[in-house]
Amino acid sequence: MNKATKDSNFALTPLLQEMASGKLGPGYKKAFQLINGLARVYKSRRLIPVNSVQISGVSYKNIGKMGIEFLKSLASPQVRVPTTLNPACYEPFLQKLHLDEEIRGQNEIIKLYSEMGVQTSLTCAPYFYGNKPEYSQHIAWAESSAVVYANSVLGARTNREGGPSALAAALTGFTPEYGLHLTDNRRPQVKIILEKTPANSLEWGLLGCWTGINHKNTIPLFFPESSSSPTEEDLQSLGAALITWGGAPLFHISQTTPEADIFPEPENSVNCTIEDLEIIQRQISYQPQTKDEIDFVYLGCPHYSIAKLDEVFNKFNAQNIKTGIGGPHQNLLGEIPSSSGLTYFGGSCIAVSYLLPAIRTVATNSVKACFYLMNRGIKTVLLPEDECLNLK
Ligand code: F3S
Repeated sequence: MNKATKDSNFALTPLLQEMASGKLGPGYKKAFQLINGLARVYKSRRLIPVNSVQISGVSYKNIGKMGIEFLKSLASPQVRVPTTLNPACYEPFLQKLHLDEEIRGQNEIIKLYSEMGVQTSLTCAPYFYGNKPEYSQHIAWAESSAVVYANSVLGARTNREGGPSALAAALTGFTPEYGLHLTDNRRPQVKIILEKTPANSLEWGLLGCWTGINHKNTIPLFFPESSSSPTEEDLQSLGAALITWGGAPLFHISQTTPEADIFPEPENSVNCTIEDLEIIQRQISYQPQTKDEIDFVYLGCPHYSIAKLDEVFNKFNAQNIKTGIGGPHQNLLGEIPSSSGLTYFGGSCIAVSYLLPAIRTVATNSVKACFYLMNRGIKTVLLPEDECLNLK
């Protein structure tokens, strides 16, 4: 870092000074102003370099024409660190719904990001698809489920960025040092003793939901009743539900996640019982009269790894009820099985997509997807993955 300038309270590299002055164009200037403004708000002592960025705010359904105008106004600056994109409303129903303007708009958004050097993987699980940070690396990620996974499971350090602040970090290569970039802010704040270790990703998601609702914005340290080996999907499900229902961007599991045992245990300690999770499930899950009410199944929220996608594709058979599976852009995968009942949401997800009006009742194993589907007025039934895949 060099000297402080009139543009900031702290020292700037020569490159950041050029960005601040506008010499490098409007995109870099806006990006610098944004991270500099955040640094002031959060009283950061300095800007720190980031190793990677994950950008949200990609779906035309969410950012629309104004989002396109904003991206155009940046005049194609280039990202300075590896940067990946969240799911878009790319597939699969746009054509069936004849949403031509939306197709054009979505294509334009992807193109504008691509011209900036952003990898258009279109996934909320970039850590499975070429953007996997290492322990203690500073990153600037925006997708909430990915933020929790990176912080909790990988031990990387990121605040929950907004779409614009993540893009600003990608263009400058820096983020303000505050929040979860500082070790002290990563301490667990409540100890949660589990009566029973969750048995599948749905139960881990219910635990995240229960914790989020009862301990908002509080970093939990979980103590399973037996030594546990949660799968990648279990950990994804826990984190995604935790941040969606309660806002906490980090969790620890004793003897499991990388930072769990480096801090003293919090004094505040609570128990989470089997009944607590059953009550939560009854509260948020629609209870259909019969399974015949369910007209669609959705899996893959957050997006699965390639290995898990293969496993689910192999379990699917032609007798299953219509099923959608979220995952990255098709370009990142090999062949996707085609079956009349199977819909691959490539580079997309059910929360940011346009849906066929016939989809009124959905079964899913994702407690995060349940939140978004309920908010869209869709009746949502929470079932474990095996039951979802056996619905006929
Ligand atoms: Fe990913 Fe969409 Fe779920 S962005 S976490 S699949 S709601």
